[in-house]
Formats: sequence, structure tokens, C-alpha cells
Amino acid sequence: MLSWDDYHNDEPLKKFVPQPIEALADEPAAPSITPEGTAGNIAGNKGLNSSAAAALLEEAASAVAEIQPAAAPVEVETPVEDIAQTPTTMTGVTTLADASAAANDTPATEPADASPAAVSPEPVPTVEDNLEAPESAIEKAHAAVAELDVAPGLEDLEMGAARIEVDDKAMINCRADLNQLVPFKYEWAWQKYLDGCANHWMPQEINMTADVATWKSESGLSADERRIVERSLGYFSTADSLVANNLVLAIYRLITNPEARQYLLRQAFEEAIHTHAYQYCVESLGMDEGEVFNMYRELPSVAKKASWSLNHTHSLSDPTFKTGTPETDQELLRNLIAFYCVTEGIFFYCGFTQILSMGRRNKMTGVAEQFQYILRDESMHLNFGVDVINQIKLENPHLWTDDFKQEAIQMILEGTELEIAYARDSMPRGVLGMNAAMMEEYLHFIANRRLAQLGLPEQFPGAQNPFPWMSEMMDLRKEKNFFETRVIEYQTGGALTWD
Ligand SMILES: [Fe+2]
Ligand SMILES: [Fe+2]
Repeated sequence: MLSWDDYHNDEPLKKFVPQPIEALADEPAAPSITPEGTAGNIAGNKGLNSSAAAALLEEAASAVAEIQPAAAPVEVETPVEDIAQTPTTMTGVTTLADASAAANDTPATEPADASPAAVSPEPVPTVEDNLEAPESAIEKAHAAVAELDVAPGLEDLEMGAARIEVDDKAMINCRADLNQLVPFKYEWAWQKYLDGCANHWMPQEINMTADVATWKSESGLSADERRIVERSLGYFSTADSLVANNLVLAIYRLITNPEARQYLLRQAFEEAIHTHAYQYCVESLGMDEGEVFNMYRELPSVAKKASWSLNHTHSLSDPTFKTGTPETDQELLRNLIAFYCVTEGIFFYCGFTQILSMGRRNKMTGVAEQFQYILRDESMHLNFGVDVINQIKLENPHLWTDDFKQEAIQMILEGTELEIAYARDSMPRGVLGMNAAMMEEYLHFIANRRLAQLGLPEQFPGAQNPFPWMSEMMDLRKEKNFFETRVIEYQTGGALTWD
């Protein structure tokens, strides 16, 4: 079995050495990054002169400036209470008012404290209630089974066709039977599925008691620290739903390989766990749920990131969208880059770094531990996405044109700019041993990593990682419980032996 390090191709693994809290507080601020310096960095990059680099940055900045946050929430025209009181004139239709009246006629034998949410069971029909005699219904079932067409389904099956061979498989536009998991073509995808299962965790296993006390105490956190917690939960509580919806409604049906789909299903469940974890934090801390869950369309720095991601899922979530032409195949690649490399690979990093830095200072350690487990999962999602993109490139080299490469670079730059804007908004002053300029440097470093993973030239040469401890956080192993709040440790799939 591969170890975490084998597929962890993110920041190089560094041995973590715990630092005393006082030392952390003295971390020097990084020099601020100027647009001129950035353009100069890009100019130093191979293949680009300084004016082309400046133009590229300007193009990314103007594209980001034009992003329209999602529209204001749609108001519900008629409140539910009003509907129940509206006089009904329709005939033959059970209205809410009728249902309400009927509910009040509950027989006295019904338990008085029956759950209001429970649906009243209908009486069990008897044989006499059947429209047809049982013999006739059974005969029809026999006939239907005898006439069963063994071929129909989501994809047509060819009965008696040759058994599937590895070479029949492809990441996209594959015509081979997608229900046959083996033989594997992409062992790495299956291995990531196994590793994801072995890393299983649940939000309720993490003790939130200390966080609740800190959050409710007036002196528990500074105003700037509270702002970071609110912004992070505001962005992430909906971001993982955007990712999950894109996975199951857009990507899944277009990736035509069963072992990759197996990982997508595991990832989809992990995204559900992440949304659960954020909800668990919001609920534990007693935060205003309406405010937190609407931040992605009400607060500009959060809304712009969400809108950017959503803009890249629209065409693929159309049920009639199909790959198979260079244009549509490139549209799928755009979606994969937008979600795996930008949303999960850049948009998560400012918030993760801030919350984990808080945990390292023994504040909000339960929330920090939830984020730490999520970061470990996300690191694997990112690496899976990069492998899928590179596999599609390998199998379809005609898609990876110079124009498309330039477009991919532009997407990474736009994502980086949006995340830097989020860093400035969530961190107006230095806090937790970091500031917006250090985060900007870190995001340049991260952007370079994403570009290199896609085989594209780095756009911020020389950018350094001011937070090397983040690598340790990403490399969390099961046996390690960094913040020591998790109450259960267990190893799941892949650990069984039958000797
Ligand atoms: Fe997630
Ligand atoms: Fe993810």
C-alpha cells in the first residue's frame, strides 16, 4: 500500500517541530508585494517579456473585477403561514388548509405526542382492494421477466461482446462498459479510493467543549480572531456544497472510467462530511446560521470566490452537455481546473492557514482539528484532480494547445487574486503571527505549485512559503492527533487481515 508521501506531491514534507507560542508571536512580517514587483517576477519567467507579463496580470485583474456576485436572495412571495390561511376555492384538491383541518380530526386513540413531522401511514390494502386478481398480477410479472430486455440502461450493453481489456479504458469519451471496475487501468485512482476510505473520520468525534467556552467568553478571542472564524465558516459552509454539486451533477457522468468514478463517489461523501463539519461548528458555537450560510452571496470577498466557481459549472451541469469535440472536451478541462486547482487548490488555503494558526496557539482547537482533517482530505482531492487532468492531457494531446495553456494560467492567476482579496478582507491587520502581505506571498507560492503540477510555467518566480508548518498539517497521519481533541482513533478500510 502506498504511503501518504507517495502521492503527496504538494509542498515538500518537512519534519514538524513544535514551536513555543511566544516564538510564533514574533514571526517577522513578510515584505509586501507590489504589482510592479509581481510583473517583474513574471517577466523573469521563461517565454514572457515584461510587457506581456504586465498585460497578463492586468487581464487577470480586470476579469476578477468583472465577476458579478450572485444575485440577491429571491424572496418567497407568500409565507407558508399565509398559504394555510388562504381561503381555497379549488375543488378536488387537498389544500394545506384542508390538511390542517384533517390533522385536527386525529382519532383519540392516536398518541397525543406523535411527532408532527411523521407522515400518517395509509391503511394497508387488502386483496379485495386490488384492482386485479392476484393471479393475474403474478402472471403479468412472469411475462415481464420472460420478456426482459437485458441491454437497456444508462449506457447500452452489447450482449456477448468481448470482455473488457485495460486498453479499452479511457478517462473521457470511453465507449467501453463502465460497470466493470476491473481490470484497472489507473491503479492510482483505486489507491486513492482505498486511502480515502482508510482516512475516514466524522465531525462528532471531535470535542468542541473548549471552543464553545472560548467563543462564548468575551475575552476568549480578539475581534480580529472572531472575524477570521466567521469568515472561514461563512465561505466553507457553502463552498463544499458547490464542490459536491459540481462533482455529482457535472463531472461524474463525463469521467468515463470506473476506478476514477469510484474515487469521485468517495470524494462526494467526503464533501458531505465537510459540509457536516462546518454545520457542526456553526451549531456548536451557537452562531447565526442564516448569516453564516448566506455569506457566500452577501459578503463581497466571499461571494466573488463562490461566483467564480459557479461560473465554471454552468455549462457542464446542463444535462444535454456532452464531451466528444475538442471544444466540449476543453470545457470539461476548464471545469476540472476551476474546481480542483483553483477552488480546492487555492480558495481553501487562506482560511485553512488562518484557522490552523489559531489552533497552534491553543485557540479554537476543536474547529482547528475539524479543519485539519478536512485539509488532509482536500489535499488528496487536489492531487486526484491534477492526476485526472494530466491523464486527459496525455490521452488527448490536441486539447492542450498554447491558447488553452494561456487560459489555464489566467484561471490560476484569477483565483490567486480573488484569494488575496479575501485575505485582505478577513485580515485587515496582522493577527495570529501573520498578515495579508505574508498570505499574498504564500498564495503566490501555492499558485506556482498549481501551475507546476499542470506542467505550466510558474508565474511568481522565487515566491517562498512563509508557513512551512502547513506541510506538516497536510501530512497528518492517523496515529497523530495534533490538537488532541479527537476522542476516537481507528483505522478502517484496508486494515483487515484474514490470517
Ligand atoms: Fe471539501
Ligand atoms: Fe474537496
